[in-house]
Amino acid sequence: MLNLVLFGPPGAGKGTQSQKLIEKYGLIHLSTGDLLRGEISQGTALGLEAKKLMDDGLLVPDAVVIGMISNKLDANKNAKGFIFDGFPRTTAQAEALDSLLKSKKSSITGMIALEVNDDELEKRLLLRGKDSGRPDDANPEIIRKRIKEYNDKTTPVAEYYKAQNKFTGINGIGTIDEIAAAIDAIIAGY
Ligand code: AP5
Repeated sequence: MLNLVLFGPPGAGKGTQSQKLIEKYGLIHLSTGDLLRGEISQGTALGLEAKKLMDDGLLVPDAVVIGMISNKLDANKNAKGFIFDGFPRTTAQAEALDSLLKSKKSSITGMIALEVNDDELEKRLLLRGKDSGRPDDANPEIIRKRIKEYNDKTTPVAEYYKAQNKFTGINGIGTIDEIAAAIDAIIAGY
């Protein structure tokens, strides 16, 4: 199985690159952000709870996202592999993912981190905010809060995979195809 963690701050291009990887490698895309927005649009209790935090640029509780990922892994038993996009975002989530995969006799192949500076992130998200309909893209204050949340709670996840020799960082600035080619080169080396 090819199990990738596509990592990086808000607006780094995780979703964009995931679309390319799904087509090329036949992987299942698991984006916790998309799953949570699905819950919100269906008006579930989980969605209502998550919405307040997401609109405010804060992480939702670990148990919520771990539960969603666990369900998706169970529902896709014959998958060739998964792209984890926006998950894990805390060390507790990374540990939970390892044990979920271990129980299925699988593991993370590698983490690929898209490195993009804060000014570029803010520019991309504000630009997208005009038509994405995402409340968390709507103003610079919330975008900065999302980046702060990433720096405070999510950057330690990179250390978690570095300790397992599974981390590769790449420049996330460039054309979408240039970045996709850099990701392909890493996958070819696994
Ligand atoms: P989530 O949906 O995961 O959002 P995010 O991490 O903030 O990331 P984005 O989707 O905004 O950015 P991206 O890196 O995918 O970039 P994209 O390809 O879209 O999370 C939203 C919220 O949900 C969180 O704040 C939290 O509340 C909650 N949540 C989700 N997962 C959670 C978890 N595990 N634990 C707890 N809470 C969780 O690109 C961005 C823009 O840039 C697009 O307009 C795109 O066209 C453009 N772009 C892409 N690549 C390039 C390029 N190379 N050059 C120029 N522009 C580019």
